[in-house]
Amino acid sequence: MSGLFITLEGPEGAGKTTNREYLAEHLRRAGLDVVLTREPGGTPLAERIRELLLTPSDEPMHADTELLLVFAARAQHLAQVIRPALARGAVVLCDRFTDATYAYQGGGRGLSLPRIGALEDFVQGTLRPDLTLVFDLPVEIGLARATARGRLDRFEQEGRAFFDAVRNTYLQRAAAEPQRYRLVDAAQSLEQVQRSLDALLPQVLEMNARG
Ligand SMILES: Nc1ncnc2c1ncn2[C@@H]1O[C@H](COP(=O)(O)OP(=O)(O)OP(=O)(O)O)[C@@H](O)[C@H]1O
Ligand SMILES: [Mg+2]
Repeated sequence: MSGLFITLEGPEGAGKTTNREYLAEHLRRAGLDVVLTREPGGTPLAERIRELLLTPSDEPMHADTELLLVFAARAQHLAQVIRPALARGAVVLCDRFTDATYAYQGGGRGLSLPRIGALEDFVQGTLRPDLTLVFDLPVEIGLARATARGRLDRFEQEGRAFFDAVRNTYLQRAAAEPQRYRLVDAAQSLEQVQRSLDALLPQVLEMNARG
């Protein structure tokens, strides 16, 4: 038995967490076992690594350190949460995953994509998401939503060029593999976004039924 691995991607303020709850509610109503989780984090140890990644600090974090911490957290999350949930046939809805590593550490920080790919293979083996929803919106709208929420984390403090690169990386990845990715126009009202998710739900149920 193997479940369904769905990831939600996009910049800060795109609506990933809000819509993850929305999707979970609908999938649970359809009788599915749904596991909600997030990255970096998803287990107590991985959440401690998340704190290291997000908390601004006086000592600058080397980009390689950042990349390795992201994958260290991911290894723990896969072992403790994601793989066991998929093995029992659950639908895993994960707020950010390796596409975020390509977008932030690859696009944003400029780290080599093949190097990220090598770590992806090392940590995940052949496991990849079955479906990835990319919540796309203009950089300034995302930043405005994140800023309205209060203190900025280590990534949110980055500048415009960083977030342009993040967005472009997500868009390139989605365009290169259209069968795995669905782009969601996250600049629309929440109601409109949720209507587009409603349209997607039958596909998700179908994928789940196929196993
Ligand atoms: N389509 C939308 N229109 C307007 N506001 C929205 C929309 N979607 C989400 N929001 C609001 O924007 C804020 C950020 O949403 P949310 O926390 O879901 O984003 P996120 O993608 O999870 O961000 P982060 O990556 O920072 O966790 C919230 O206050 C939420 O209510
Ligand atoms: Mg969120």
